Amino acid sequence: MENLIYLDNAATAWPKPENVYEFAIDFYRKTGVNPGRSGFDMAIEAGNIIENLRVRLTKFFGGDEDVPERLCFGYNATDALNLIVRGLLQAGDHVITTNVEHNSVIRPVNCMVRDNGVEATYIPFNNKGFIDPDDIKNAIKSNTKLVIVNHGSNVLGTVQFIKEIGLICKEKGVLFATDTSQTAGVIPVNMKEMNVDVLAFTGHKSLMGFTGIGGLCVRKDVDIRQTRSGGTGVRSAYPYHLEEYPFRMEYGTPNMVGVASLWAGQDFIEERGVENIHKQEMDLAKRLVNGFREIEGVQIYGCEDMENHLSTITINIDKFEAGDVGIILDVDFDIATRTGLHCAPLVHKQLGLVESHGGVRFSIGAFNTEEHIDRAIEAVDVIAKSRK
Ligand code: ALA
Repeated sequence: MENLIYLDNAATAWPKPENVYEFAIDFYRKTGVNPGRSGFDMAIEAGNIIENLRVRLTKFFGGDEDVPERLCFGYNATDALNLIVRGLLQAGDHVITTNVEHNSVIRPVNCMVRDNGVEATYIPFNNKGFIDPDDIKNAIKSNTKLVIVNHGSNVLGTVQFIKEIGLICKEKGVLFATDTSQTAGVIPVNMKEMNVDVLAFTGHKSLMGFTGIGGLCVRKDVDIRQTRSGGTGVRSAYPYHLEEYPFRMEYGTPNMVGVASLWAGQDFIEERGVENIHKQEMDLAKRLVNGFREIEGVQIYGCEDMENHLSTITINIDKFEAGDVGIILDVDFDIATRTGLHCAPLVHKQLGLVESHGGVRFSIGAFNTEEHIDRAIEAVDVIAKSRK
């Protein structure tokens, strides 16, 4: 593992910053009790970090700072997106989403179509990997209730024109949700400026927290129906799930070590600065793409000009199955990538890659170096040259 080059940061950021490990473990050792349930000092302290984190993340996401309780915690973005899709749509509603979505949107939307009388339209991306806001505008109908667009693609790395799409939705009176799984922590997000009504986030990628923590931020004039119920720690005699936020969207004991990790993740991001983290990653991403461009037989997807982009690059090598390239990179070169469809099958379908079993994804993180990138280029060069 010492020589491992980890280029699978779109799956999860690894390693986490040292301060995240230290703070989260120390917090959990000293204060790892159930928040908001009991009145002893430690429980109050545990409750404080979660409430303070709501305030901090609401600000970070440009949500409504006067209602931080609308920043609700769950397991991850998939969890949040299920609450959003199931809690905003009902029979007769139309939802518009896109081919760049992850299964965290595609599957709940498809279930609503199959089981609940919802109608869905999927908008394709253009040949550079972007959703044209006009295509969203043209797809809006009188029964369109919701538009959901992935902020940054986990396959192509393209960052969508969220502000423009949000403005269209605002003008048309349609709710707009975005999935920031790949962007939060590397691309500035401001819900108010970007006209976003509901945002889903996951903690374990560029927010630098642990797995198992994520959530949603809901603007104050939006109400998501409850689709679950359970313990909230307060008003236990009330026979139904509580209507008020954050309880409305939170069920059972929260992941407190995850909360602590996200708190420390915010410290790391504040210290480095979102723009600086992104610039450092993009310098490496451009180096990688430029290297790949020199290698005969390498196809690169969605990286034409690297503007509005993440440091996520997907390729294929002629005459190779994506999975085989991943295995060779791992076994022969100690390079960790992710191959296959990346839980985003419509991207691969639109690119015609389903039959060849997807692509090979290199996703750069805050701790990668030029040496990692050069070794990845060299490895791909060796594999490409070995073609028969
Ligand atoms: N959605 C994550 C990825 O793209 C897991 O790998």
